Amino acid sequence: MVNIILLAGLVATTLAADLPTQPSSALAYSPPYYPSPRIDGGGDWKAAYQRAKAFVDQLTLTEKVNLTTGTGWQSDNCVGNVGTIPRLNFPSLCMQDSPLGIRFGTYSSAFPAGMNAAMTWDRELMYLRGLAMGEEFKGKGVNMALGPVAGPLGRHPEGGRNWEGFSADPMLTGVGMFETVKGMQDAGVIATAKHYIGNEQELFRQVGEGRQWGFNITESLSSNIDDRTMHELYLWPFADAVRANVGAIMCSYQQVNNSYGCANSKLLNGLLKDELDFQGLVMSDWSAQHSGVASALAGLDMSMPGDVTFNSGDSYFGGNMTMAVLNGSLPIWRVDDMATRIMSAYYFTHQDKNFPETNMNSWTTDDYGYLRYYSKEHYGLVNKQVDVRGQHHKIIRELSAKANILLKNSGVLPLTGKEKQIALFGSDAGETPYGPNGHPDRGGNDGTLAMGWGSGTANFPYLVTPLEAIKAKALQLGQVVQSVLDDYAYSQIKDTARQASVCLTFVSADSGEGYIDVDGNRGDRKNLTLWHNGDDLIKTVASTCKNTVVVIHSVGPVLLEEWIDHPNVTAVLFAGLPGQESGNSLTDVLYGAVNPSGRLPFTIAKHREDYGVKLTNSSTVAVPQQDFTEGLFIDYRHFDKNEITPRYEFGYGLSYTTFKYSHLKIRRLADPAGYKPAKGMQAKNDAVSKKLDPADYLFPKDFSSWKVGNFIYPYIKSVSDVKQGSYPAPKGAYDTSAQPVPAAGGAPGGNPSLYENVYEISVVVTNTGKKAGEEVVQVYLETGLADDPKIVLRQFEKVMLRVGESKTVKVKLNRRDLMRWSVVKQDWTCTEGKKVVHVGCSSRQFALSANLA
Ligand SMILES: *[C@@H]1O[C@H](CO)[C@@H](O)[C@H](O)[C@H]1NC(C)=O
Ligand SMILES: *[C@@H]1O[C@H](CO)[C@@H](O)[C@H](O)[C@H]1NC(C)=O
Ligand SMILES: *[C@@H]1O[C@H](CO)[C@@H](O)[C@H](O)[C@H]1NC(C)=O
Ligand SMILES: *[C@@H]1O[C@H](CO)[C@@H](O)[C@H](O)[C@H]1NC(C)=O
Ligand SMILES: *[C@@H]1O[C@H](CO)[C@@H](O)[C@H](O)[C@H]1NC(C)=O
Ligand SMILES: *[C@@H]1O[C@H](CO)[C@@H](O)[C@H](O)[C@H]1NC(C)=O
Ligand SMILES: *[C@@H]1O[C@H](CO)[C@@H](O)[C@H](O)[C@H]1NC(C)=O
Ligand SMILES: *[C@@H]1O[C@H](CO)[C@@H](O)[C@H](O)[C@H]1NC(C)=O
Repeated sequence: MVNIILLAGLVATTLAADLPTQPSSALAYSPPYYPSPRIDGGGDWKAAYQRAKAFVDQLTLTEKVNLTTGTGWQSDNCVGNVGTIPRLNFPSLCMQDSPLGIRFGTYSSAFPAGMNAAMTWDRELMYLRGLAMGEEFKGKGVNMALGPVAGPLGRHPEGGRNWEGFSADPMLTGVGMFETVKGMQDAGVIATAKHYIGNEQELFRQVGEGRQWGFNITESLSSNIDDRTMHELYLWPFADAVRANVGAIMCSYQQVNNSYGCANSKLLNGLLKDELDFQGLVMSDWSAQHSGVASALAGLDMSMPGDVTFNSGDSYFGGNMTMAVLNGSLPIWRVDDMATRIMSAYYFTHQDKNFPETNMNSWTTDDYGYLRYYSKEHYGLVNKQVDVRGQHHKIIRELSAKANILLKNSGVLPLTGKEKQIALFGSDAGETPYGPNGHPDRGGNDGTLAMGWGSGTANFPYLVTPLEAIKAKALQLGQVVQSVLDDYAYSQIKDTARQASVCLTFVSADSGEGYIDVDGNRGDRKNLTLWHNGDDLIKTVASTCKNTVVVIHSVGPVLLEEWIDHPNVTAVLFAGLPGQESGNSLTDVLYGAVNPSGRLPFTIAKHREDYGVKLTNSSTVAVPQQDFTEGLFIDYRHFDKNEITPRYEFGYGLSYTTFKYSHLKIRRLADPAGYKPAKGMQAKNDAVSKKLDPADYLFPKDFSSWKVGNFIYPYIKSVSDVKQGSYPAPKGAYDTSAQPVPAAGGAPGGNPSLYENVYEISVVVTNTGKKAGEEVVQVYLETGLADDPKIVLRQFEKVMLRVGESKTVKVKLNRRDLMRWSVVKQDWTCTEGKKVVHVGCSSRQFALSANLA
């Protein structure tokens, strides 16, 4: 067992095989994949690669190491910074959270969550959100933005960070990744697709957190995922990110098949760098690195935030990497490749031209503070308070409005404006008593919920609450407004509800990252019910108010069964996590300025058990194992397979108008069976190993005069420490011979012939109602094969239609959409049998179907 795991690139001290409670034979393992593929400037990367190579060619070993290694937690402006190259005046690169804006930012925007972007099913809005966020990161001098998120994908409905990503469907998430990466990088910031991969729950992702909650674990949870599921579900959206030329990928905390995410050669060398031909850099999640040479050989390129544990002052990379090269454990070509990958991403996004110096600081909102926060050194101006928001409030409001999903409507929405009295109920309608940024990393839920918690957050520049926005609108219209924000003031609630013409009732459910526990929710939610007794609040309001409209702010699906069929609950809106313009975007929809066009990016079940998969919420073993035995069947695929009727299916959402579909046509554009496996050999590794003199890499003589606190430096202590020896490298790790191109590889994102369009599907959609509105035309594929999901989403398009207007909507399917991953061939393959295309407005409401021929 030990050997196998070592081969997989993991150096772990305690291995499960030693534990009596766990039979070693049952453990999944990850096959070794070596050598680490070198960047070659494929796809659109040639120019960036050539410039990067020229830059790296002039660097010394310690300068290269500096590029790969963070200087330590809280040692610089950003949540992560690498070393500098003073000789060339090359500044430190800054990495900053989060996927919805600038974490710890001032004068920056709080964008809607990734989930809300997915709820719009609107490619352009996804792109514009990415672009706007990218502009803000660049404005602050952030080189790499730590987002977007495709892991978690959403295996578990209560997964703590699902809202940071997009959807439980890989295709919709893939579009979210593609558009967000394009947007961010067009703005000049390097996007970081994360968390790669299988990071589907918070609990047990890190040993320390697990222990903190009283579980005696010795290694992180292992997500055991079979090869086909990996390709068709979890890897799919990352492939789209790579195809969009994402510059960075962050490897995840937990293990896959008992090998850590940041040292798993099959994941990093194999799937990502060889098969997907990823041209950027892999950075570790913060403290997700557990070994030096082993991780480097397995494909890790950058250590974040650099230290072994926060503020430990030492590193698996840094001086250890210099040493490993000098003592022969780590080939210099691997270090060159790391540095070249980092610099390629830098040139790809044109950061060599007019890129602002970092002007923000993560550790204080004050203007002045310690630049070296942890060591309390270099006091000075650290925060220039640059206002980077531009006009982004517009896109935030528009996206959030269009994300709203109308789940139920008996005709009471949109409000006419002539209702005499509006009442609002619930703490989720108003301000939190602590201010929108009152809970560190948003770890609390006591006012209107517009963001989950953890590192995936941003500071609110302001937060427009539903109460203030609705009140402003209602007063303009001469309506009377009352509100009761105490969720438990039942007698006042009933009294006020009795008087109102419409009772807007606000409820929420929150979750976040695993290092914060809010009300017993350790990142992941402990249940799918509403917080603050939301069910009772709704039922109380509805007991005296005939027109109860429920608004849900939530991180994901919630159970609605206690009141959804209540005759007095006349409308329900799912608003997700709308960010700073929450109230305004909601008011736009309530009063009809915007026709709701959001669609569910996940399934809302009637009961928790209906989802099938279970979150691993406790462990009696030292290394928790999570077998993804359900394979492809998560979310709607599970409901379809098991014939479970959900409350609201994936893709569902109402509008203020109605649509009709007609004239479904299918046109063949290319031979669907014309897939061409990639062939041939990659370039030989032509690295020339120069003899390096260890004396050149010692700590400089004047080091003590400029040393900073417990910064991580790239130097070695003494020449006599350099001992040539035989590092137990995995087989093939040092191989410099030419390697075959994987059949499924050949270009960033995978084999280009996968992405050739083979069918065009066109359908006419007509607005048959009385209001202009947008429809999301959804295209599902049915293969009829027993081991395939009944249907899978394969395309969608959002279309705006005036009253009575008809438009022809055209979408294309490519080969990847129709093929399956063959574990035997290790390639995509065509399947036999009749394929049917269903077109409609949700995963269960098909207007038209046709055979693919
Ligand atoms: C994990 O193990 C499964 C089952 O053996 C295998 O199909 C899959 O390729 C492995 N994945 C990784 C990343 O090791
Ligand atoms: C490495 O980075 C540190 C921190 O920025 C810097 O002080 C040092 O001079 C750099 N070393 C080299 C060799 O460039
Ligand atoms: C935790 O587990 C390890 C190995 O499984 C064992 O050696 C140790 O005694 C346990 N510690 C506690 C406090 O139970
Ligand atoms: C090298 O890595 C080891 C852990 O493998 C660590 O204990 C040591 O302090 C590191 N050395 C340096 C110079 O960072
Ligand atoms: C579910 O969790 C929330 C938030 O912690 C809590 O308020 C609620 O009481 C829980 N619901 C049930 C049924 O336990
Ligand atoms: C609906 O509201 C009315 C008050 O307008 C109330 O009389 C009735 O009992 C409510 N219905 C239910 C089922 O609670
Ligand atoms: C784990 O979840 C189950 C429901 O699936 C629940 O009954 C149990 O109490 C939970 N255990 C812990 C430790 O939270
Ligand atoms: C070479 O250096 C690396 C990093 O410090 C270390 O892990 C390894 O044990 C060293 N090898 C020898 C033979 O000393």
